[in-house]
Formats: sequence, C-alpha cells, structure tokens
Amino acid sequence: MFNKKIQNKTELRDEINLILNNHSLRNSLLETQLIISYSAKRLNYLDVKFDEIDIQEIEKIIKERLKGMPLSKIIKQKGFWKDIFYTDENTLDPRSDSEILIENIIKDFKSLKNTYFNFIDLCCGTGCLGISLLKEFEFAKCDFIDISSQALLNCKRNISTLSVNRRSSVFESDLFENYPISNIKNTKFIICNPPYIPTKQYFLLDKETLNDPKISLDGGSKGLNFYIRIIEFLESQQFTGYVYFEIDPIIEQELDKFLLEKALKIVYKKQDYLNLDRLLKVTFP
Ligand SMILES: C[S@@+](CC[C@H](N)C(=O)[O-])C[C@H]1O[C@@H](n2cnc3c(N)ncnc32)[C@H](O)[C@@H]1O
Repeated sequence: MFNKKIQNKTELRDEINLILNNHSLRNSLLETQLIISYSAKRLNYLDVKFDEIDIQEIEKIIKERLKGMPLSKIIKQKGFWKDIFYTDENTLDPRSDSEILIENIIKDFKSLKNTYFNFIDLCCGTGCLGISLLKEFEFAKCDFIDISSQALLNCKRNISTLSVNRRSSVFESDLFENYPISNIKNTKFIICNPPYIPTKQYFLLDKETLNDPKISLDGGSKGLNFYIRIIEFLESQQFTGYVYFEIDPIIEQELDKFLLEKALKIVYKKQDYLNLDRLLKVTFP
C-alpha cells in the first residue's frame, strides 16, 4: 500500500495523509493521526512511539476507509466533548455540532455544579450527551432513554467505560411510554437530539451518514414527529423544567410554525460552529 519502506512516524503520517487526500477525504490529517493512535492503542497521536504502530492494522483500516466507510464506524469510536465513545452500526456517531448543547447547559447550570439534580437524555444513542454532562456535573443523575435495545447496549458500555454507572439509569422505551412518569417531576431538564431528517430526504443523505442507523435519523414526513410527540406529552404532564433540543435548518421553518401554535416559551436558539441554528431551549409556561 505504501510507496516506500516507512522509517518513522512522520513518514508514515505523510504517506497516509497523501493517500486519504488523493481520495478527497476531508480532515485527512486529523484522520491520519486518529488511525495511527488507534493502531498503537494510544489516545493521543503525540504519545505514539513508532515501534508501537501496527502497520497491517493501518492498511486494513485504510482499505475500508477508501470504500467509503466512516472512520468512526471502522474503529468503532468517536471523540465527543472530552471523551471517546464506543459506536457501531447500531448508533449514530456523536457529532461535534451537538457539543453546543453541552456548552450551553454547562453555562446555564453553573450554579448547580456542586448540587444534586436529575436530568434525562432522551433518544440517547451512545449516551454521549448525558455522559458528557454527568462528567461535568459530578453530583447529577441521568436517566437515559432510547427505543433501540442495541443502541442501549452501546450506551451502557460507554456509561461503564467512562465510570458514571452509579449516577445512570437506562430505559428501553418509545419516548416516555415505558418510563416511570413520576420521575419527570424531579427532572431539571431534558436534553434530546431526536431523529429529524424528513423521510423523503433520508435517501438523499451523503453515503457516510447512511452508515448510521435509519431509526436514528428518520423523523417522519416533515421531520417533526419526535418534537411534536415530546412537546405534547410534556405539556400534558405539566412539565416545568427545560428542554434542550438539537435542531437543524432542514426542519426549522416547519418546527417554528408548530412552536407558534403551542403556548411554549422559547428561551433561546443558539448556533453551531458553522453558524447554523442547532440548539433550541424551551420551557412550558
Ligand atoms: C439522532 S440519534 C441521537 C443519538 C445521541 N443522542 C446523539 O446525540 O448522538 C436519535 C436516537 O433516537 C433513538 N430513537 C428513535 N426512535 C425513538 C423512540 N421512538 N423513542 C426513543 N428513542 C428513539 C434512536 O435509536 C437514536 O439512538
């Protein structure tokens, strides 16, 4: 695979980077460093020593990558916020866009840093949102909810690897259907990144995104099914906490129409690193 005998880590990095670049893969340098660190079983590229690197493993990874499989699905891990999360074909890979939710919740609840409170990670997938928050709020507890038993296996694995077991409970449930409703009263906030791709647009997604499970992406005909069900349910329960939803420009116009019809209080919207509206914080008056 490589054009010459590789003598050191820098040469290896440059060779891999060139191969990925020639296949027009974005972020080729970052991916190169991740591939090298992974093959050497190190978390950080800078810590890797040349003799720790497994060249055969790297060649296997590159072959898969050039077939169009996302790197996170090959090495079954993805960095999010401050940690690395296990992911596979059963879970949506954590996205850096979603970090804006974490940043804002940390700001909003900084006065609660040293207090006990409960929150819910609804549609949790890998659990990247809830787990990242548990690590920021050392006394908080999180209920993780997802309909997919396979996704919940990944979530439990991350909960355990990242040592937040004692403060986590996991529920397999179609939204709140199988969830002890009495818990909602004591919930400070809900964080939720629901499936929101309108069904017709699902098949137009790029090839890499289509490696994520359909159940994690398809939000129904207008992409709003989950927002509507969640908001109507919480309204019926007279929920008094906050909901932090991930949103996307493809559904925003329709979502805004729905929000206007509801007596909901929009606390704020925030933009992601590309300046796109990504976070919606609401509460119920
Ligand atoms: C967009 S992914 C979000 C995953 C994770 N929270 C994140 O931000 O990376 C949506 C998740 O919703 C789950 N899901 C789909 N339908 C659901 C339902 N009816 N009830 C609960 N969870 C559901 C999927 O299994 C998937 O894990």
